[in-house]
Amino acid sequence: MEYTNLKIPNHVGIILDGNGRWAQNRGLNRSEGHKAGYDNLKKLSIHILGTGVKVLSLYVFSTENFKRSEEEVGYLMNLVVKKFKSDAKYFVENNVKVIFSGRRENLRKDVLNAMDYIADLTKNNTKGILNICLNYGGHTEITDMTKKIAKLVKEEKISIDEIDEELVGKNMYQDLEPIDFLIRTSGEMRLSNFMLWQNSYAEFYFPNVHFPDFNEKEFDKALIEYTSRDRRFGGINYDGKSN
Ligand code: IPE
Ligand code: IPE
Ligand code: MG
Repeated sequence: MEYTNLKIPNHVGIILDGNGRWAQNRGLNRSEGHKAGYDNLKKLSIHILGTGVKVLSLYVFSTENFKRSEEEVGYLMNLVVKKFKSDAKYFVENNVKVIFSGRRENLRKDVLNAMDYIADLTKNNTKGILNICLNYGGHTEITDMTKKIAKLVKEEKISIDEIDEELVGKNMYQDLEPIDFLIRTSGEMRLSNFMLWQNSYAEFYFPNVHFPDFNEKEFDKALIEYTSRDRRFGGINYDGKSN
C-alpha cells in the first residue's frame, strides 16, 4: 500500500468492539474473542504507527465494563497482566511508547504493576504513542480534570481567570492533541463515553467488522475513507482546499 497519496491523521482513536460476538459466531466463548482481539491489537498497533500516525488511543476497558460478570472482568484483567509483561519487549523493539488513560482506583495491584512495568520500559521510545484507555470513562476524566484544576486554584497556583481550553486539555489524563479519526468496529454507532473532550472534531468511521477481523487491510481502507473527508472546523471549504 502506498501511503504518500493519503492523508494521515495525527491521532487515531479505536473503540475496539465486537470481540464477544466474533467468538459467539464461531461457537467459542467470549474469552476466546478477547484473546483474538488482543492478538490483533498487538499487530495492528505497529502497523498503524508505521503509516505515520503519531498517537493511537485504544479503548480496551471502560468504567462501565465493571458491570460485566466477575468471570469476564477477571479474564480481561488476567490477560492484561500476562500480555503487558510478556509483550513489553515487543513494544520496545518496535520503538513504541505505551501510556495509559483511566482511573487507577478500582484496578487490581497486579494490573497496576503490569501497567507501570510496560510504561516504564517503553518511556523513551519515539516511533509513536500507544495510549491504552483502561478503566477509562469520558465522564470520570472530565470530573478528575475538574478536581485537579480546582486544587490548583485552591493552592493559589493559578487564578480562575487563567483557566482556558489549553489548561483544561493539559489536565486530562494525558496531554494529547485532539483525535482526528475515530473508528468503532462491529457496526455500533456510539461513543460509549470515549474521550469526549478529545473527539470534539473527530471524523467518525464505523466499519461492519468485529475487532479481531479489523486487520491492516481494513485500516488501510479506513485511511482511504479519511482522505476523502472534507474537514472544515466550522469554516467554509467545499472543494477540499483550504481557503
Ligand atoms: C470489546 O468487545 C472488548 C471490551 C469492551 C472489553 P465486547 O466484549 O464489547 O464484544 P461484544 O460487543 O459483546 O461483541
Ligand atoms: C465500549 O464497548 C467499551 C470498550 C470498547 C472498551 P462496550 O461494548 O462496552 O459498549 P456498549 O455497552 O455497547 O455501549
Ligand atoms: Mg461491545
